[in-house]
Amino acid sequence: MDNIKAYINQHKERFINELIELLKIPSISADSAFEKDVIKTSKTIKSALKKAGCDHVEICETPGYPIVYGEKIIDPKLPTVLVYGHYDVQPADPIDLWDSPPFEPIIKKTEIHPEGAIFARGACDDKGQLYMHVKALEYMTANENLPCNVKFMIEGEEEVGSESLSWFVKRNQEKLANDIILISDTGMISNTQPSITTGLRGLSYVEVEVTGPNRDLHSGLYGGAVANPINILTKMIASLHDENNHITIPGFYDKVEELSAEERAEMAKAPFSLDHYKKAIDIDAVYGEKGYTTNERNSIRPTLDVNGIWGGYIGEGAKTVIASQAFAKISMRLVPNQDWIEITELFKTHFESIAPKGVTVKVKPHHGGQGYVTPIDNIGYKAANKAYTKTFGVEAIPQRSGGSIPIVALFEKELKSKTILMGFGLDSDAIHSPNEHFGVFNYLKGIETIPLFYKYYTEMKK
Ligand code: BES
Ligand code: MN
Ligand code: MN
Repeated sequence: MDNIKAYINQHKERFINELIELLKIPSISADSAFEKDVIKTSKTIKSALKKAGCDHVEICETPGYPIVYGEKIIDPKLPTVLVYGHYDVQPADPIDLWDSPPFEPIIKKTEIHPEGAIFARGACDDKGQLYMHVKALEYMTANENLPCNVKFMIEGEEEVGSESLSWFVKRNQEKLANDIILISDTGMISNTQPSITTGLRGLSYVEVEVTGPNRDLHSGLYGGAVANPINILTKMIASLHDENNHITIPGFYDKVEELSAEERAEMAKAPFSLDHYKKAIDIDAVYGEKGYTTNERNSIRPTLDVNGIWGGYIGEGAKTVIASQAFAKISMRLVPNQDWIEITELFKTHFESIAPKGVTVKVKPHHGGQGYVTPIDNIGYKAANKAYTKTFGVEAIPQRSGGSIPIVALFEKELKSKTILMGFGLDSDAIHSPNEHFGVFNYLKGIETIPLFYKYYTEMKK
């Protein structure tokens, strides 16, 4: 694999152009208006896998969006790596805040990416990162140095909860049998300090509805005399945190895994600048649960956040009205041992119990999933670390992430294998936000590092 750098140098323009073409298709899974584009993207992935040297590439139909599957089995006695990624993307809203159209990718230099970054929805999450794996496979098949078997499984519903993938995994255990699962859909500390994600948070996502009077009312004639659903909803939401920013739902923390002082000290060693953190998102102070650092708050501690809230009059000018209903979307990020179904129940019971007389409250669960942790004495972790060490010149740091990829816990349950999260994105890449981008350096470094994972993993597995 000594010629990997030369191969990338020779083909990098094509690698970038192929990714740009993929990014032009608006594969937004949340919005049915883009259904055709999501399907079209699955076909693009299928032909890319074929061209890269995969055998038996197929589009597997599901009750929802299809899953693209392909494999290259060189010897059943050798280990098998299962690569997972997602070809769907988040909605581009709010579109007005993009400096260039989200589905017209352009390369621009930034302070953090002096070699340029590709700006487009999905550039980092996850089209750019999944495509690194396709190009890494191309390199290994073209150079006949693929050291083990590989299977690809790329889905189109990750951003909306991976329901069809759960359905697919439960029905295809044998087809998906593997020794280790490899995913690039997370981040790393910086371009000079790689890290390997060793934990993901679980998630419970709910929508709440508060209903008061049977119609919108004149806020003068009725104001002060009936419960205003928006006033009530905001009051109820505010009560979900106490003065120390602890979550007040009874039983919420019962199963939370508490880290030892040693583990917390180990975590605190990762390079982190609070000043840079604040500057990057333009805030003058951080905020969160008392007794924990910023890095702890966004990884090993559970959270509760309103993701959207609406009701009443929001058009131009003023309208004096008491709305009949108010709504909010609420997410809870969960940590190891918290069960998302149990937490969803606790939320529902508590939220309904704090509703005052005069309104009715409904809690509608959306989707969720369990958290995930992977030990660092796993061969897969060691192989990944060795690969990063070789291409970045420094060892990777294990790091628990605040994000969620709920399907990873299901993989462990159904396929009985561990997942290695080799991410190449940066927190500043603005995933899910306007102006999402992915560094050209990161993209090419990923393509360079992945084949080494295969090599070291196969060697260590012997
Ligand atoms: N790739 C992200 C998750 C992620 C990003 C994990 C960065 C760690 C670091 C994934 O596409 C995502 O957005 N997941 C959702 C959950 C999903 C069920 C909608 C999330 O974390 O909000
Ligand atoms: Mn993702
Ligand atoms: Mn995402």
